[in-house]
Amino acid sequence: MNKKRTGMKMSISSDKEVAKRVKALLKKMSLEEKIGQLNQVGGADFAPGPKAEDQIRKGGAGSVLWLNDTKRFNELQKIAVEESPSGIPLLFALDVIHGYHTIFPVPLAMASSWDPNVPEKSQTVAAKEARAAGLHWTFGPMLDICRDARWGRIVEGAGEDPYLGAAMAAAQVRGFQGNDISNPERMLACAKHFAGYGYSDGGRDYDPVYLSETQLRNIVLPPFKAAVKAGVATFMSAYMDLNDVPASGNRWLLRQVLRKEWGFGGFVVSDAFAVANMVIQGHARDRLDAALRGIKAGLNMDMSSYTYTEGMVKLVKNGLLKVSEIEELVRPILALKIKMGLFENPYVDEGLLEKVIALPEHRQISRWSAQRSMVLLRNEGGLLPLSKDLKNVAVIGPLADSMEATEGSWMVFGHKPAVVTVLQGIRAKLPGAQVTYSPGPEIRRDIPSWFESMMAGEVRKPAQSPEEAEAAFQAALETARAADQVIMVLGETDLMAGEAASRASLDLPGRQEELLKAVAALGKPVVLVLLNGRPLSVNWAAEHIPAILEAWEPGTEGGHAVADILFGDVNPGGKLPVSFPRKGSHAPLYYARNLTHSPEGSPMYNPRYWDGLPVPLYPFGYGLSYTTFEFSNLKVSKSKVKVGKSVTVSVDVTNTGKVTGDEVAQLYIHQKWGTDTRPMRELKGFERITLQPRETKKVTFRLGPDELQYWSTNAGKWIQDATEFDIWVGADSTATLHADLKVVN
Ligand code: BGC
Repeated sequence: MNKKRTGMKMSISSDKEVAKRVKALLKKMSLEEKIGQLNQVGGADFAPGPKAEDQIRKGGAGSVLWLNDTKRFNELQKIAVEESPSGIPLLFALDVIHGYHTIFPVPLAMASSWDPNVPEKSQTVAAKEARAAGLHWTFGPMLDICRDARWGRIVEGAGEDPYLGAAMAAAQVRGFQGNDISNPERMLACAKHFAGYGYSDGGRDYDPVYLSETQLRNIVLPPFKAAVKAGVATFMSAYMDLNDVPASGNRWLLRQVLRKEWGFGGFVVSDAFAVANMVIQGHARDRLDAALRGIKAGLNMDMSSYTYTEGMVKLVKNGLLKVSEIEELVRPILALKIKMGLFENPYVDEGLLEKVIALPEHRQISRWSAQRSMVLLRNEGGLLPLSKDLKNVAVIGPLADSMEATEGSWMVFGHKPAVVTVLQGIRAKLPGAQVTYSPGPEIRRDIPSWFESMMAGEVRKPAQSPEEAEAAFQAALETARAADQVIMVLGETDLMAGEAASRASLDLPGRQEELLKAVAALGKPVVLVLLNGRPLSVNWAAEHIPAILEAWEPGTEGGHAVADILFGDVNPGGKLPVSFPRKGSHAPLYYARNLTHSPEGSPMYNPRYWDGLPVPLYPFGYGLSYTTFEFSNLKVSKSKVKVGKSVTVSVDVTNTGKVTGDEVAQLYIHQKWGTDTRPMRELKGFERITLQPRETKKVTFRLGPDELQYWSTNAGKWIQDATEFDIWVGADSTATLHADLKVVN
């Protein structure tokens, strides 16, 4: 056996070698064992199904998920390797979404960095820790474009834009997998949820999705395509119906787009129980029919609904399925196990994890990621940064000392928080000051979710009575009254965003805004720090609270990173990856809309609503700094270019303020006319740069067919029009520095 496995970047000969080994394995495997490779066993108590050991022993499992126990991994692997008929090792999988032990900012926050190094470095550490624990495969990155902040899972993705989303997708794949998946410090990534999940009706989780092919190809699919290009090993099909066909049984998605058009050679796992769920969804007649639909659609692995192991032998006997169709689905699973080197090294060193998680650079990268992810939304009169000489600071709010809200979503399966809260971070920054704290009334969901019962460490206290809440409100006011400076930490708890965490309103939950108003009325300087996993309509704060920092759910070092920014050790440079609506009912709200016959400023302009315009509170791409920047000298290398050819666009960015800071130069285009109508603005380039005071840097972008083409409804294919473009470069999606470009045949 060839011991040298080279992973994703394999030469033809080693690809051939892998294929040869797969062929040899298939030859000795029974039909039941082949089917077993397509079965992912749930290793947690909440997952129904036959006992894991029994399935593994008879070769009936290809992978195990929802287990996070290094010793147990080795025990189960030993059964697979030594007791099952063909000794094929298992893949252990878990949701390592933004960190394993060291937690990084949630993906929406990482996208706010507009710096692909942030997710790449963070997911590199996540992979290293997870592999040391014995995991091989993460269910990330989550690549669902979402333009409706009511959808709870917006927190797991990169926001509303396909261009930014694609950059973050590729960076995460590089982070998890590196360029060699035989590297024992890397893990398999999984691009999910394929596809359209972020577009559920009304932002309601799991609800059906209706998307035209044009929307799919131009908006939803680009991050997935970027993940394929970056070498992602696996995909996960989404739960919901896409245009009336469940994504897990959707041949067009899984066979036509993913494999035929994009040449994806890895394997696809369903979302949890999604194959059997096709019966509940009213698509499949019964479980057997569901299995058949999954297989025929090209879905390789059934996540824990056991329809494949239950039904496939029967389907073969009935002549509805050929063994060769099963083998086609098994092949990429075996190939990845071979490429990872699992046959040679199936076990994990049980002493490794302790050493790996103790590495100080992991926490440093977490702090750096969090610093780069935060977005300064307001800073009237330069209230921030605060002085470190402050003597008496009150930290107020239900999230100020919440480990859960600081770490954010997906802290499941035995995760032990090791987090620095905002309160702790501020106290560490001001050792000589009196830092008082009062949480105010608690916040909680009106309707709890199923997940609350299974989240580790989430044994929630009984709800506060109205009297207790009032006492907490008054105590918070007292604490604020006694201080010289107030820092309010408000937003949403970890379980208010994420799966099954959609909401109709985007207001601050509970009595938080009332408390904010009451504290502001005391006349003290107030800074608002937001911890949340989705845009919130903080309209009142945006007018009345002088300084607002969007800290998202910043992870293990989040409290330190907040304090670094509040007290000026770090100058914030993050930008919003999603528009902030003024109301939940304005969703979906996004910048890349098409023009209409009645655009703002036209003689026949009609407001879209008569009860408040749906203009964002903060636009896409927006974020402030402690310094100021100026964009000038916008140049396009040629005013005219042929279809298929490229131009360069350059701009000078100058730091016009007094401190060093980061700016993100953003390039937007608008196709003025053509085969189809195109959005009034589309992001087509960005770069985050650091500038010293009075320093100027030139930023250069390439604009070519990749950026100028689109999927056309009228043409039914990808096209590039000979037409005219507006080009803007600036600090956000409202940039005004403008140039023209003509594209000719
Ligand atoms: C989620 C997926 C996740 C899977 C496994 C599902 O409920 O939709 O995102 O990867 O569970 O935990």
